[in-house]
Amino acid sequence: MFSRTTTRRHFLGTILAASVAPAIVRAQAGRKLNVAIIGCGGRGAGNLAEIAANGENIVALCDVNANNLAAAAKKYPDAKTFADFRKLYDEFKDFDAVAVSTAEHTHSFATLPALRMKKHVYCEKPLAHNVWETRKIREAAKAAGVATQMGTQIHATKNYRRVVELIQGGAIGAVTECHVWVSRAWGLQSEEASRRNRDIVFVTERPKEAQTPPAHFNWELFLGPAVERPFHNVYFPGPKWYRWWDFGSGTMSDLGSHWNDLPFWALNLDAPLTIEASPGPADSELAPATMSATYEYGPRGTMPACKLTWYQGELRPAVWTEKKIPQWADGALFIGDKGMVLANYDKHILLPEEQYKDFQRPERTISDSIGHHKEWLEVAKNGGPTTCNFAYSGGLTEANHLGNVAYRVGKKIHWDAAKLECPGAPEAAKFLKREYRKGWELA
Ligand SMILES: NC(=O)c1ccc[n+]([C@@H]2O[C@H](COP(=O)([O-])OP(=O)(O)OC[C@H]3O[C@@H](n4cnc5c(N)ncnc54)[C@H](O)[C@@H]3O)[C@@H](O)[C@H]2O)c1
Repeated sequence: MFSRTTTRRHFLGTILAASVAPAIVRAQAGRKLNVAIIGCGGRGAGNLAEIAANGENIVALCDVNANNLAAAAKKYPDAKTFADFRKLYDEFKDFDAVAVSTAEHTHSFATLPALRMKKHVYCEKPLAHNVWETRKIREAAKAAGVATQMGTQIHATKNYRRVVELIQGGAIGAVTECHVWVSRAWGLQSEEASRRNRDIVFVTERPKEAQTPPAHFNWELFLGPAVERPFHNVYFPGPKWYRWWDFGSGTMSDLGSHWNDLPFWALNLDAPLTIEASPGPADSELAPATMSATYEYGPRGTMPACKLTWYQGELRPAVWTEKKIPQWADGALFIGDKGMVLANYDKHILLPEEQYKDFQRPERTISDSIGHHKEWLEVAKNGGPTTCNFAYSGGLTEANHLGNVAYRVGKKIHWDAAKLECPGAPEAAKFLKREYRKGWELA
């Protein structure tokens, strides 16, 4: 199930997890897990189905949308139901594991109590709403020693494994540059661009007027820790909320969770040294449809320093616009001193193709995944490492959020990962963390 080339960070994070809590994992070997589900619609419905398909007991369901809760409760009539996850944690302790698929601004509030109760946690990407919350979760996961997995299921594909083997096996030599682009253009943009890009909603500012929320939707609980505002259909249903800084982080951390995962894994990335994003200026409410962020990383082991550039919306790397590579709508391009690898979710090619036509692929070193959810469930029962545990996925999430921090600050920032600050840019602090609505605190 696990890679021989699993990074030291992956490995230590999870081995440590397993070793500090033998009572948690071994006591459960050979039996079904009792799983609580927080967020039952949207992506949550998919996660619920995967967990149930593995034969686990679904013992609690929580959703702020009564329709989604009722639909899940119909399938799992023995499960206790909740609208408020705080009540679930207060009143119901008899579960082993929890899957969190709420909107991003409540991830940390829904996962931290579980980690502190030493429950195994599966949390949708991105792990948390900002850098500070992500770090809290990483630390809590390490202290809890439970099985954790972030919902980046593309990580479990064969395609990603083969790309990692190529890069780490030296097929394109030393990699100093990587470009990642996604064509989704959702977020703040002109009305014309919004139409051109088939955005799901056109909005340029926070509405002042109040609309009545649908009867089945508890707006107050959905808001949770986010800044107070009246309900409006520019936030609901998901994924409309993704673009609002108060609820999500736009495409950078949404799709960045899946796409930057590949260079993160293949190039053993963690904390960047600097980050610079464009084009500004940033809006105070809405994430942009189109932006780019460049990360500088120092040398890692035998790998040299490298630059990773992210492009979303209408931007592409120059090598793409100059038609020097196949015109894939979305892709990750690794540039080494001997050649290039171009990859997407499903496939990859070595470039120039002529140069690699007789290329002998390296021996497979990374075994196939048993499935992203199954991996988490089996590790929860039997111990061992998951591949997207919170030690690894926390680093990826922090880096993606830092792209947005640089974008919102509007200048190149330096990153001190240990101190969680941007030296020389004190104005970045307010984007690393947020204020919570009265009644919501994250200790
Ligand atoms: N891994 C993937 O490929 C993938 C795909 C889509 C979404 N996601 C992630 O899944 C999460 C949910 O996204 P979505 O598009 O399904 O959103 P969504 O708005 O459809 O919400 C999912 C469900 O969670 C419920 N919910 C929201 N806030 C809640 C709360 N405080 N307590 C309980 N339930 C709550 C909603 O009512 C809904 O049923 C996000 O983090 C998103 O980034 C991941």
